[in-house]
Amino acid sequence: MCGIFAYTGKKGKDAGGVLLDGLLSLEYRGYDSAGIYTPESGSVRTPGAVAELRKKIPKGFKGKSGIAHLRWATHGEPTEKNAHPHSDCEGEVWVVHNGIIENFKELKEKLIKKGHTFTSDSDTEVLAHLVEEHLKKEKSFEKAALAALNEVNGTYGIALQYKKEPDRIIAARMGSPIVLGLGDGEHFIASDPSPILPHTKKVVFLEDGEVAVISPDGHRIFKLDSTKVKRDATNIDWSAEATQKGGHEHFMLKEIMEGPEVIENTLRGRLIIEKGLAKLGGLESVAKQLEKIERVIVVACGTAYYAGLVGEYMLEEYAGIPVEVELGSEFRYRKSVINEKTVVLGISQSGETADTLEALREGKRRGALTLGIVNTVGSTIARETDAGVYNHAGPEISVASTKAFLSQLTALALFTMFFGRQRGMSEATGREIAKALKELPEKLQQILDTKESIQKLAKKYSKARDFLYIGRKYNYPIAYEGAIKLKEISYVHAEGCGAGEMKHGPIAMIDENFPTMAIAPKDSMYEKMVSNIHEIKARKGPVIAIATKGDKEIAKLADDVLYVPETLEMLSPILNVVPLQLFAYYFAKEKGLNVDRPRNLAKSVTVE
Ligand code: AGP
Ligand code: GLU
Repeated sequence: MCGIFAYTGKKGKDAGGVLLDGLLSLEYRGYDSAGIYTPESGSVRTPGAVAELRKKIPKGFKGKSGIAHLRWATHGEPTEKNAHPHSDCEGEVWVVHNGIIENFKELKEKLIKKGHTFTSDSDTEVLAHLVEEHLKKEKSFEKAALAALNEVNGTYGIALQYKKEPDRIIAARMGSPIVLGLGDGEHFIASDPSPILPHTKKVVFLEDGEVAVISPDGHRIFKLDSTKVKRDATNIDWSAEATQKGGHEHFMLKEIMEGPEVIENTLRGRLIIEKGLAKLGGLESVAKQLEKIERVIVVACGTAYYAGLVGEYMLEEYAGIPVEVELGSEFRYRKSVINEKTVVLGISQSGETADTLEALREGKRRGALTLGIVNTVGSTIARETDAGVYNHAGPEISVASTKAFLSQLTALALFTMFFGRQRGMSEATGREIAKALKELPEKLQQILDTKESIQKLAKKYSKARDFLYIGRKYNYPIAYEGAIKLKEISYVHAEGCGAGEMKHGPIAMIDENFPTMAIAPKDSMYEKMVSNIHEIKARKGPVIAIATKGDKEIAKLADDVLYVPETLEMLSPILNVVPLQLFAYYFAKEKGLNVDRPRNLAKSVTVE
């Protein structure tokens, strides 16, 4: 996600101070490195966040304008040389960027052939050199920027500054948020309004495909084809904190609502639909080795572990490869049979979970090929595994993992396509999975649009002290994930259970005060799930069913039904989990608990 902040003014304010203070309110967006540039004093960049950047600002650093950035790395380790702002060869064009330039490799090769020298591994740097190249012809900074942006594919929210025109700054938006702040004698560009609000509450949100130019006295907005855009300003009356949450009450709800965008970002540039192929750049270096793999052991903890359990079903059914899923904290002490034909796959949002990290180290020690599905670029697990795939889910602030889980399941589906097409999965099946993946964001949005009805249901059951969550096959792990979501933020007893396992003990708990969440989509296990619901109803147990849109039968049986759109059985967990995330959120909110910071828990468990 990262944070962008830019300023230009004629009120005698110190641009450096304005920018550094503004970055502080953007730190929640995630950071691994930071940087600032003013035309008068040049650039300062550092790993870490604003505190580290402040320490490196030399005496006398000044400016009436400038651009600043908090990086959440996607391409290139979080080091000083990869930190933004990035510049062209002459140090005249400077850029800060949020997003991913998908065609940066082709553009970089083309620019190197034209004599440009690059100093970083970041995709972003290509933007500065592209503007520099166009400046040779266009002479105008604005026209050169427009021409450059018309060559770019991918997502960006950017601010561009040209040393020779210090009071003007160009912004552009394609897939990553950009907002302009309209002050009196000063103007701003930022990733969200929070750093602008101390200066002005008048803002203008850019739309995708729009470019803006700000100067101390004004701003202009136009499209990539130069057509002018007229847009009224909005007066933001949110607090800075509310702005950081996108106007939502908690980060958890904000992150659940980001689900569609997160799936899109996880898939971005990784599907060749017409060929039914998954393109995973992070696995290219080991692709040949993977063809000989005979077994996959997934190691993870908590929610990431439940993602692994879904992956087990996917990989076995579609890639025909034996898979076992182990808790990181257990695997380390087992005597698993491991050799060079074993992959140990670590799944971790933070990339720092000690139990998962040590399990991977144990796997490596014993000769396995180690892979990662990690959200945090440059994290320990990302660095220590032989290869892997980044989630690109953006930073997840709330302790309860929601959007990262959707991304982990999406990444596992891509893994399944990658392994499967190496092992006889047909192009037609690959195409079918690819198409179904592309349809997920829109289907997920349909569920999010029903959040008020889920809130009502959470209120209806808010007095319950115990819940059973049941599911089968692909949705068996979702029963456990739904249960952990509820218990970790509302502290009530919630137990996941394979529905077929109920009769072997758990059904003894069921009575009218013990509701069951039954995940019963119209899939290969539907009839079995209906029987399980009958068993519960026979014991007077209340049942909330997660069912496929249009299934009227289940409504006659369950006390309440939450509907989700149909999709491939292997992808249904990605949709079925979302009503459970929202139910847990509203249940905890109803109880007035600290949803984002539940008691006894930490976001990243870096201790064993
Ligand atoms: C999930 O809601 C929990 N916060 C927790 O189980 C978490 O998934 C687990 O600690 C693993 O974290 P990781 O993905 O960062 O490794
Ligand atoms: N893709 C760019 C990089 O890795 C920007 C990442 C971000 O959004 O912070 O530098």
